[in-house]
Amino acid sequence: MPLSDLAVHLAPESLAEQMAEDVRAGLGSRPRTLPPKYFYDARGSELFDEITRLPEYYPTRAEREILDARVGEIASVTAAETLIELGSGTSEKTRLLLRALRDHGTLNRFVPFDVDPAVLQEASRAVAGEFPGLAVAPVVGDFERHLGELPAGPRRLLAFLGSTIGNFEPAQRTAFLAAVRGTLSAGDHFLLGTDLVKSPARLVAAYADSRGVTAAFNRNVLAVLDRELDADFDPDAFEHVAVWDAEHEWIEMRLRSRTRQRVHVRAISLVVDLEEGEEIRTEISAKFRPESITRELARAGLRVTDLWTDAAGDFALSLSTPV
Ligand SMILES: C[S@@+](CC[C@H](N)C(=O)[O-])C[C@H]1O[C@@H](n2cnc3c(N)ncnc32)[C@H](O)[C@@H]1O
Repeated sequence: MPLSDLAVHLAPESLAEQMAEDVRAGLGSRPRTLPPKYFYDARGSELFDEITRLPEYYPTRAEREILDARVGEIASVTAAETLIELGSGTSEKTRLLLRALRDHGTLNRFVPFDVDPAVLQEASRAVAGEFPGLAVAPVVGDFERHLGELPAGPRRLLAFLGSTIGNFEPAQRTAFLAAVRGTLSAGDHFLLGTDLVKSPARLVAAYADSRGVTAAFNRNVLAVLDRELDADFDPDAFEHVAVWDAEHEWIEMRLRSRTRQRVHVRAISLVVDLEEGEEIRTEISAKFRPESITRELARAGLRVTDLWTDAAGDFALSLSTPV
């Protein structure tokens, strides 16, 4: 049935340009940083999918538990005709929403939106096969730059799952939520998945699993830079590190240089000298409290109508509407 071609708002040239700019800024500053969106090439998306099935990685299971219990309510409150999913990845849990909205009789279009064309293509084909009659219109884009390109239409449900919002720094998060609010009209809803603050031991274990899958995911960003920017990082020369920052209430993933080394990022003529033990921050994953979620959404002009958690209180899913 109607599976549209990928609508590409992020042509490979524009991604490469953005990457060059981000890498120059991030590796050139102290502490050194890299933005998490570059984890996600085809291999990175595969590794993330593996992470979601790890015993230590509770967020996916907790969010699925909430969706399982609440999709009926979500479908009747939103009566959505279009489901748009930002950072959709494999859209695995999204099937629950798609089924509930289809059974409610309102859904006619699904718009998965992701920076990685490979995962998007595969997920869109699979969803189109599983949901005959549903228009599937995938969009390749950067949710920090291309929210203005989202399709219009009455009664849209914009979903942002997996606590991907935790990857933004606070100022970026404020800007992102304002942009989300700006794209929504009366009758639209925003469904947001957020991981909650809990014991540091469980949090760290979720980002430093015993099988080393998260470590491979973290190092994959270096393989991406080697390929895309003609760099000569040796991913094995870096150790995966996950730490809990109690002040900011976020997990940091870092890559720690095992030795003193010089790396060349030839496409941007950048030379990076790293000391032994020097770290590159590759991701933050902020953890939330229910009251802070409601407050931040309210500040952006979004009123929370429902906020649910799983039975263990590990994860929250909130539904909000523009005010
Ligand atoms: C943490 S994963 C979550 C995947 C899925 N939503 C889930 O709940 O399991 C983040 C997803 O967002 C995508 N992503 C990361 N940064 C992005 C950006 N700036 N714009 C669009 N998609 C992005 C990644 O490719 C990946 O599929």
